[in-house]
Amino acid sequence: MSKIRTAFFCQNCGTQSPKWAGKCPSCNEWNTFVEEVVQKTSSEPSFKSGSSRMSKPRAVSELESELHHRIPVVDQELHRVLGGGLVSGSLILFGGEPGIGKSTLMLQLALQQLNMSVLYVSGEESEEQIKMRVERIGYDNPRCLVLMETSMENILLHLAEVKPDLLIIDSIQTLTSSAIESSPGSVSQVRECTTKLMKFAKESHTVVFLIGHITKEGTLAGPKVLEHMVDCVLQFEGDRHHIYRLLRSTKNRFGSTNELGIYEMEGSGLKEVANPSDILINTQNDQLSGSAISATMEGLRPLLVEIQALASTAVYGTPQRSTTGFDIRRLNMLLAVLEKRCGFRLAMKDVFLNIAGGMRIEDPAMDLAVITAILSSSEDIAVSRTICFAGEVGLSGEIRPVTRIDQRINEAAKLGFEEIYVSSYNKGITQTNAIKIHKVGKVEELFSHLFG
Ligand code: TYD
Ligand code: MG
Repeated sequence: MSKIRTAFFCQNCGTQSPKWAGKCPSCNEWNTFVEEVVQKTSSEPSFKSGSSRMSKPRAVSELESELHHRIPVVDQELHRVLGGGLVSGSLILFGGEPGIGKSTLMLQLALQQLNMSVLYVSGEESEEQIKMRVERIGYDNPRCLVLMETSMENILLHLAEVKPDLLIIDSIQTLTSSAIESSPGSVSQVRECTTKLMKFAKESHTVVFLIGHITKEGTLAGPKVLEHMVDCVLQFEGDRHHIYRLLRSTKNRFGSTNELGIYEMEGSGLKEVANPSDILINTQNDQLSGSAISATMEGLRPLLVEIQALASTAVYGTPQRSTTGFDIRRLNMLLAVLEKRCGFRLAMKDVFLNIAGGMRIEDPAMDLAVITAILSSSEDIAVSRTICFAGEVGLSGEIRPVTRIDQRINEAAKLGFEEIYVSSYNKGITQTNAIKIHKVGKVEELFSHLFG
């Protein structure tokens, strides 16, 4: 029996250190080092090259372009975010905050893929809980098996027997491998189990999904370790109190990371939202001040969202600024631009900003709609709901061009908008009769157009 070897691991980023340290040298987090036992069984088959397979350098032109076999996914949103289906032998990490709907989405996938045999391993829920969820979702796949297990070794034994096409692990943080003595969820356990599952995926050409919880800081536990190992990282985001959920890929070895999937959480599971702009805009006809619609892009997907602002005289000495779904520093910057460059008196006003539907979108093109909403609220003049906006606002009050302007304009026209405001510096806009395009170069121009 060899001596027990221990090492210290940063629970945030997975950095290993022989000694304890107060501050992680890699991610600069404090008090994240935890001692873990790292007792490797030396009999484990080596995964590295050398003994079994000799590699040799080859010219790029000689490489075989191994066309990955793609399996279509019934869920169209997931299909697109994955870059066009599941690639056999791929390992996908699916992260999200607790309660966001990860287990629901994965169980839906398991039950919808009638062409695949599926093993759903749950270390978190009981059979009754899963049964109740299956009844809620209302799909049935006779080739989907469910296993309650947390021991990595037992799971591998079952896998050798079941030989599924699709394996779902809910969640990677609950698995324990007996090769490592530290507790489940610790960096070394997570790394060890992921390594084993990666080996399994590559050898058996099984698609493996690992559900991973996100810590309250918004990162996956041991993120650096896991993100390097897997082929794909999917993130499930959204506000638990709203019904919309966004599915993004932050890493994808088989496709682009620009795609976005949108779901709606209903009583009977997650429903795909095919035309999100329709719901993100309040379609009431009565016009209220303080609201403007922005033609944004989420990755490659045009999305029209409603921005609501409330600017009211501050009750206390220091005005409040608060946002939901928008960067507060960006709001402060835009307010400073309006104050300093354009002379609007907003310094003594409370400003609240909200993106409808609980969406969190980061697109500089929203600036134009944000300032319009603020000015509309401050002046108490409503902006027509047939107008939308796409432009970035610079520090000197100039309206800057944004990317993919044609796509934004087309989406707005498709949804029945009659006018769109864009930057006059945006070059090469394809003229269209479907929508009136206003070009503005400065915030003042926009103001006189709208409220003049
Ligand atoms: P869950 O998939 O358990 O989240 P996670 O695995 O990410 O922790 O989903 C949790 C929430 O989803 C739960 O609060 C209830 C809600 N929910 C619905 O609203 N409708 C449904 O059909 C299901 C199954 C869950
Ligand atoms: Mg869950």
